Amino acid sequence: MRIVMIGSGYVGLVSGACLADFGHHVTCVDKSVAKIDALEAGEVPIFEPGLDMIIEQNRKAGRLHFSKELARSVAEADVVFIAVGTPSRRGDGHADLTYVYAAAREIAAAVSGFTVVVTKSTVPVGTGDEIERIFREEFPEQEIAVVSNPEFLREGAAITDFKRPDRIVIGTEDARATQIMREVYRPLYLNEAPLYFCERRTSELIKYAANAFLAMKITFINEIADLCEQIGADVQKVAKGIGMDKRIGDKFLHAGPGYGGSCFPKDTLALVKTAQDFGSPVRLIETTVSINDNRKRAMGRKVIAACDGSVRAKKIAILGLTFKPNTDDMRDAPSITIVQALLDGGASVHVYDPEGMDAARGVLGPVTYGKNPYDIAAGADAIVLVTEWDEFRALDFNRLKELMQNPVLVDLRNIYPTDEVTRHGFRYFAVGKRN
Ligand code: UDX
Repeated sequence: MRIVMIGSGYVGLVSGACLADFGHHVTCVDKSVAKIDALEAGEVPIFEPGLDMIIEQNRKAGRLHFSKELARSVAEADVVFIAVGTPSRRGDGHADLTYVYAAAREIAAAVSGFTVVVTKSTVPVGTGDEIERIFREEFPEQEIAVVSNPEFLREGAAITDFKRPDRIVIGTEDARATQIMREVYRPLYLNEAPLYFCERRTSELIKYAANAFLAMKITFINEIADLCEQIGADVQKVAKGIGMDKRIGDKFLHAGPGYGGSCFPKDTLALVKTAQDFGSPVRLIETTVSINDNRKRAMGRKVIAACDGSVRAKKIAILGLTFKPNTDDMRDAPSITIVQALLDGGASVHVYDPEGMDAARGVLGPVTYGKNPYDIAAGADAIVLVTEWDEFRALDFNRLKELMQNPVLVDLRNIYPTDEVTRHGFRYFAVGKRN
C-alpha cells in the first residue's frame, strides 16, 4: 500500500511514521522546506516520546520518506491523508479550512487512478461533502473517494494511542474505499482494534462529540472541586467514588487548572459555532467553554489568595508550563493565564519546565527562566505546580524549605498528599480540598 500524508505536523508525522511501521510505504509531504530538510537530516521537529526512533527505523528500512513535492508523491499513491492544520479562524472560532481545501485541490490535480482521499485533520461536519464537490466540479475526470478518518491521539502518548486505539472511526459509504481502508488498518485489526464504519458526516461529528464530551467531563469535576473547597469535601475521593461506576468511568476526572492544548479549546469552540449555524445550539458545551476560560483566571486568583492576598514584589516559582506533561506544547496552556495574572499583580515570576521553555518564550511575558525546581525556588514566596511532570513528583521539601523565603506550595494538579507537604512545614493549597 502506498500512502501519502499531506502535512508533517503532529498528526501527520505520528500517523505517517506508525503506518510505515505497519509495513506500508509512506511519504510525508510538507510545504515547509525547513521542516522537510530537518526531517531528511534526521531531526524530529516535535517532542513526542518514541517518535524519533520509529522515524529513524522506518527511514532506514526504506518505508518512510519525506518530500516537498506533493504532485509527484500523490500520483503514485493509493491513499492520500490530509493532515494539515485547522486552526481557529481569527474572530469567530470557526475552524479555518483554507489549508484543507488548498491541499484537496492540489491532490485532485495530481492523482492518477482510483485514489482514496482521507481527512485526518479535525474538520467540521460537511467538509468531506465540500471536498467531494470541489473534485466533482473542478476535476470530474479523476476517480476519487473522500473518506473521513478522525484521529484520537493524545500528545505524549501518541504512538501507543495509534497502535493500540480504542477504535478507528472510518466515514465512507464507498465500497472500494471501505476495502482500501481495511487494508490500511489491517495490522491494527489483527490487534483487535475495532474498525467502526459509518457515514462520512457521522464520522466527522464523532470526533467533535468525543472531544467535547471529554472537555465537559473535566469541567464537571473542576466545578465539583470548587464546591468541595467550600463544603469541606475531597474532590479526589469524590472522583474515585463516582468513577467506580462503570457508566461514568474513572478517566478524565482529575480536577486541575482547566484543560488546554491543541484540541479541546479549538474543537469545543468549533462545535459550538457549527451547532449555532445549524440552529441547534449545544449549550452544555457553550457553558463548558466559558467555565474553562474563567477557571484559568481563577487559578491566578487562587495563587494570590495563597500569598495572603497580594503577590506584589513577591517572587513566585512556577513548576511546569506545558498544557500537560510529556509534550513541549504551550498552546492554550493554563500557565499562560496564570503567569499573566501574577505579573499583573506585580509578582516577579520565575519558571521552569522540562521541555516547554523554548515554546514558552514566545508566549509568556517578562519572566525569568530557571534550570530546575530548586533554582527557581531560591528566595521564593510560593511555588505553584501547574503541570504534573514526573520530575516534580518527588520534590525534596527539606531542601526547598531552606531555599524559600516562605514555604508555600500551590499544587494545581493534586499530586501530593496534604500531610506529606505540611509535615515539612509548608502551607499547602490543593484543588478541591479544604486548605
Ligand atoms: C485530546 C484528546 O484526548 C485526544 O483524543 C484528541 O485527539 C486530542 O485532544 P490531548 O490534547 O493531547 O488529547 O491531551 P489529553 O491528555 O486528552 O488532555 C487534554 C487536557 O485536559 C489537558 O490540558 C489535560 O491537562 C486536561 N485534563 C485531562 C484534565 O485537566 N483532567 C483530566 O482528568 C484529564
